[in-house]
Amino acid sequence: MVQTLIQRNIVWSAERVKQDPDYFKRLCEIQNPRYLWIGCSDSRVPANVIAGLEPGEVFVHRNVANLLHPGDLNGLSVLQYAVESLQVRQIIVCGHYGCGGINAAVEARSHGLIDHWLQPIRDTAALCAHELDALSDEKKRLDRLCELNVMAQVRRVSETPIVQEAFSRGQDLEVHGLVYALTDGRLRNLGCSVPPGSGS
Ligand code: CO
Repeated sequence: MVQTLIQRNIVWSAERVKQDPDYFKRLCEIQNPRYLWIGCSDSRVPANVIAGLEPGEVFVHRNVANLLHPGDLNGLSVLQYAVESLQVRQIIVCGHYGCGGINAAVEARSHGLIDHWLQPIRDTAALCAHELDALSDEKKRLDRLCELNVMAQVRRVSETPIVQEAFSRGQDLEVHGLVYALTDGRLRNLGCSVPPGSGS
């Protein structure tokens, strides 16, 4: 119920003020996050919570299966604002094992509109079919496809004119690919950072 959320919000905001009387005043004055997070909409993968970040510390964009389509006005607007106005230092593309979007993308049956959204995942699966086919079971193939999708999206984000222009201006900016495991709550670095080696 909405009333439940409002009650919880009252408790939360009172607790914040109790710990730090200037907490909301400070957040009002400036938004200065270091990170842009591009993650999945899955309710089990909340950026702030799993990365241990407070309000004000991460600018967040989430959609099904953490994708950036070349014509995605929403995602590109977020990216541009984060890079050019907020001047984030790190862009994190974060996928997760057990992603319903990844599963749906490679299922034989159709799902309607979402199949259009998930097309880049099928492209990645086709491109990496040799590697995926060599894996012994379906779960391993899906897990690897989660990773390959993150790597593909890191490349895609890096190749946007927004990020390319930031690099050519000499702006301090890195793009990293992480994958989250629901089974142990841990983030893993996929080692696909741009510029290469910047994520260690
Ligand atoms: Co997901």
